[in-house]
Amino acid sequence: MIRPILRMGDPRLLERAQPVAAFDTPELHALVADMRDTMAARAGAGLAAPQIGVGLRVVIFGVHANPRYPDAEEVPDTVLVNPVLEPVDDEMVEGWEGCLSVPGMRGLVPRYRRLRYRGYDERGAPLDRTVADFHARVVQHEVDHLDGILYPRRIRDLTRFGFIDALFPGQDLGED
Ligand code: NI
Repeated sequence: MIRPILRMGDPRLLERAQPVAAFDTPELHALVADMRDTMAARAGAGLAAPQIGVGLRVVIFGVHANPRYPDAEEVPDTVLVNPVLEPVDDEMVEGWEGCLSVPGMRGLVPRYRRLRYRGYDERGAPLDRTVADFHARVVQHEVDHLDGILYPRRIRDLTRFGFIDALFPGQDLGED
């Protein structure tokens, strides 16, 4: 079921989400199904449970030739529950991000370039990956949502934050 996405300004997006206590439950499967439907309907690269008003540490992401991110490498479809992030080193890179909770806008956001992340899928199977670049960026963006952080708070230079059509005139990057 497609669920409404909360937008920046809603206090529920600022809360710290709670860990999932039980895996492979009907409730968790239903949540993930709704998140998949909602992300697909908006052609997003990722979605965190708090964005649909559920305060649990669940994110999904995946990128396959997404018109919102024309230069992005592919990222496998992933369900990540109770994630733990660990930067591999200190290198940071800036990249443009958008968010379904901040529609119509993009900002240049610094993120760790290389990242190890661990967690579980919705059945409780462990996940342990070391990734870089866009994959690492997407994970950091989504996991920030679980700590109540939206990407505009990460922008260092607010002159690099604006509306998509004003920042990138003539490029069809979608409306979200
Ligand atoms: Ni987001």
